[in-house]
Formats: sequence, structure tokens, C-alpha cells
Amino acid sequence: MYVCICNAVTDHQIKESVAAGASSLTDLKDQLGVGNCCGCCTDLAGSFLSAAAVSSSISVTSPMGAEH
Ligand code: FES
Repeated sequence: MYVCICNAVTDHQIKESVAAGASSLTDLKDQLGVGNCCGCCTDLAGSFLSAAAVSSSISVTSPMGAEH
């Protein structure tokens, strides 16, 4: 499914980025452009980031800076 409509970024792309080392929304923004337009997708992207990180057993940084 599309997570970021503005940049046509899918949950699959987020999972691939996490698998490649992305650990924060900043990483996703740099790599995929998530949240760099209207910003409406950042909460959902953060959820997919956390879920992908859990399945990859890595820690991620939330938008508020706390680790999950
Ligand atoms: S939906 Fe992601 S920046 Fe607009």
C-alpha cells in the first residue's frame, strides 16, 4: 500500500530501506522522500518503520527522539 502519496512510497519500500539500514524517519526522508511534501504521512510512515524494525530486530528512533 502507499504510505506517502506525494512521493508514491509504499510500505514495501519502507521495509526495504529498514532492511538496508534506515532507522529513523530522517533516513526514510533522505532515501525515499517520505514526508518531504505535505507531511501527512509521517505518523503512518513511523508506524511502518517501527513494524519493519521489529521484524528486523533493530532499534529505531521515533519522531520524538525516543528509542523503541
Ligand atoms: S503524503 Fe507523504 S509528504 Fe505528502
